Amino acid sequence: MQDCRGNALSTASPAAVAALDSATAQLNAFHGDPVGTLVAALKAEPDFIMGHAFLAAVFATAMDRTFESYTDRALSAAGPLLPHANERERAHVAAARLFADGDFERATETWGRIAIDHPRDIFAVQMAQQGDFFLGHSIMLRDRVARVLPHWNESVPGYGFMLGMHAFGLEEAGDYRRAEAAGREAVTRDPQDAWGAHAVAHVMEMEGRADEGVAWLRATQAGWDRDGLLACHNWWHMAVAELDRGDLGALLAIYDERILTLGLAQAMQLCDAAALLWRVWTLGHDVGDRWTAVADAWEARAEQGLYAFNDMHAAMAFAATRRDAAYGRLERAAARVAEGRFVNALAAREAGLPVMRGVWAFGRGDWQGVLDHLVPALPKLAIGGGSHAQRDAVHWTATEAAIRAGDRALAAALTAERLSWKAGSPVNRAWAARAAAMG
Ligand SMILES: [Fe+2]
Repeated sequence: MQDCRGNALSTASPAAVAALDSATAQLNAFHGDPVGTLVAALKAEPDFIMGHAFLAAVFATAMDRTFESYTDRALSAAGPLLPHANERERAHVAAARLFADGDFERATETWGRIAIDHPRDIFAVQMAQQGDFFLGHSIMLRDRVARVLPHWNESVPGYGFMLGMHAFGLEEAGDYRRAEAAGREAVTRDPQDAWGAHAVAHVMEMEGRADEGVAWLRATQAGWDRDGLLACHNWWHMAVAELDRGDLGALLAIYDERILTLGLAQAMQLCDAAALLWRVWTLGHDVGDRWTAVADAWEARAEQGLYAFNDMHAAMAFAATRRDAAYGRLERAAARVAEGRFVNALAAREAGLPVMRGVWAFGRGDWQGVLDHLVPALPKLAIGGGSHAQRDAVHWTATEAAIRAGDRALAAALTAERLSWKAGSPVNRAWAARAAAMG
């Protein structure tokens, strides 16, 4: 049989194929319950290898060892089915296994190669883009999609999602005009395309269009909020835009009523929560006892040693709550990763550990220590994963520390840098004014 885009599947079950098509569309839109859709189908059709490969990939790329047993179970179920699978399905299982084993680079290249050989395998494209995101491959976020776009047109199911993925890649590559156009078209084609809406929010964040960012996310909220898998992160974007507009009350309302309501059950949500509180807290604002729940949830993950980006955000929660023991466990785990194999070791060495140490220094009020760790890491942050907007938390921290350290020249330089790409930002203008007033 074939999926709705003509990719061959080793199953004779129309119900399994329909479930895969449905789960893929849900994942593409970050909407609904793609895992539940496939789990139900696999109960009836346990030999459906692409279903297991799909689940393994989704669980492995959650970047949270909390889901590790689910990944293992899916890979174990896929193993005995490999002799009867086609080459594409075998490659999907191999990619998920590589990712689960920590070889994010080879996993991403494997998904990327599947997409080259089967350019209408949108799941492979999406997984490759997720991999590129975790690896900080800004240009590949764009070009992994561009490689296969000639094989797509609006008659192919999921074309809008391809535009949404391309939009995010264009944004990360700095092509804001084409990114915004593609993202808007994606959302017009499917208002539930949370990734497309997210791409446009990124454009507005990077261009300092905070008013438009809030308005865009409010206008598209009905599509990405309810049953949305990216809802927490899109609320994070809205809150960051509110902070840029100087509306702390709106930011905290989004945090309390939206982000917390969605829960702190996954590492990605915890990154959003920590990143938001950190930005507010480092500017000197009181966030009440909001750190406690975030730090508690990170404590349970302090020794995962999985992903430098996670560890940076765990460090923020521990620094703000002065949790020495938890920070110690986190740093030791990251130091072990730095000695290991794969790109993760490089990420921990070049980005994870320096950022962690800089953030921890900030919590202790050691402003020069912050600068010693963070400034040399600034050019290399991408290897730690995430988007430009997310990684800006590090530059943000360094800017505030430069002012508090009394390093007038560095404060002027960092604020000039920030204003060069986001001149209208009240936060950036406030920093510039403080830097200019330094004696
Ligand atoms: Fe984002």
